[in-house]
Amino acid sequence: MSLIDQIDRNRVPEHVAIIMDGNGRWAKQRGNQRIFGHKNGVKAVKAATEAAGEIGVKYLTLYAFSTENWNRPKSEVDALMGLLVDTINSEMETLLKNGIRVLTIGDRSMLPPDVQRKLNDVIVRTASCTTITTVLALNYGSRLEITEAVKKIAIDAQQGKLSAEQITPVTISDYLYTANIPDPALLIRTSGELRLSNFLLWQLAYTELYFTPVLWPDFTKDDFFKAIIDYQKRERRFGKTSEQL
Ligand code: IPE
Ligand code: IPE
Ligand code: MG
Repeated sequence: MSLIDQIDRNRVPEHVAIIMDGNGRWAKQRGNQRIFGHKNGVKAVKAATEAAGEIGVKYLTLYAFSTENWNRPKSEVDALMGLLVDTINSEMETLLKNGIRVLTIGDRSMLPPDVQRKLNDVIVRTASCTTITTVLALNYGSRLEITEAVKKIAIDAQQGKLSAEQITPVTISDYLYTANIPDPALLIRTSGELRLSNFLLWQLAYTELYFTPVLWPDFTKDDFFKAIIDYQKRERRFGKTSEQL
């Protein structure tokens, strides 16, 4: 039986998040520059998006550039930004045709102006697409996100829009970039690294974690389906006993 047929369509995670890692190592293994790995990673982005759409995942969040990634060589940062613009340009029609809405999380104001314009463009043009929402995490860092949320909460409290007693975990979720997006049910990280790297620290509180040694440019639709099958074998207890479920 093919992998996709082993998936229980009634228990597909509504939101899957992916830390797309291993592009640099993939390129190095081939004696190439790191950017060669990033370019080949675009194919895996397309594969993951298609696979997610096929089984009915509603949100796919992709960690594409972290707040820490600015510390990489400028040539690599520039190449990544260029690749982002090129990919949006080449994929725009496919996004619209397949009903893929694009959103971002992270501080876009620090991205180069042409990247910001291109992102605004794709966000506006895909706004009414309903098959799947792809959330690109760009200049995203969980600690920055939480810090910004706390600042906004403090300002609203100062202005009397909110009182300290009213603040609940839901309030905090509502002030994050991910307001209105359900928490991920499944997180996938490729390349064998076993860490979160400042990704969705609040939102992943009860997420199932899946790690694979596959380097991101090698990640296929079947790799995505394998992660879903693994997820479906797990029992999500949320603190309860097995008998209570
Ligand atoms: C992930 O691959 C892509 C980004 C972080 C932009 P890496 O570039 O981190 O690849 P490795 O981890 O060096 O192999
Ligand atoms: C995390 O990968 C960020 C993205 C995938 C965009 P990194 O490769 O930057 O993570 P670390 O630095 O190895 O933890
Ligand atoms: Mg990496």
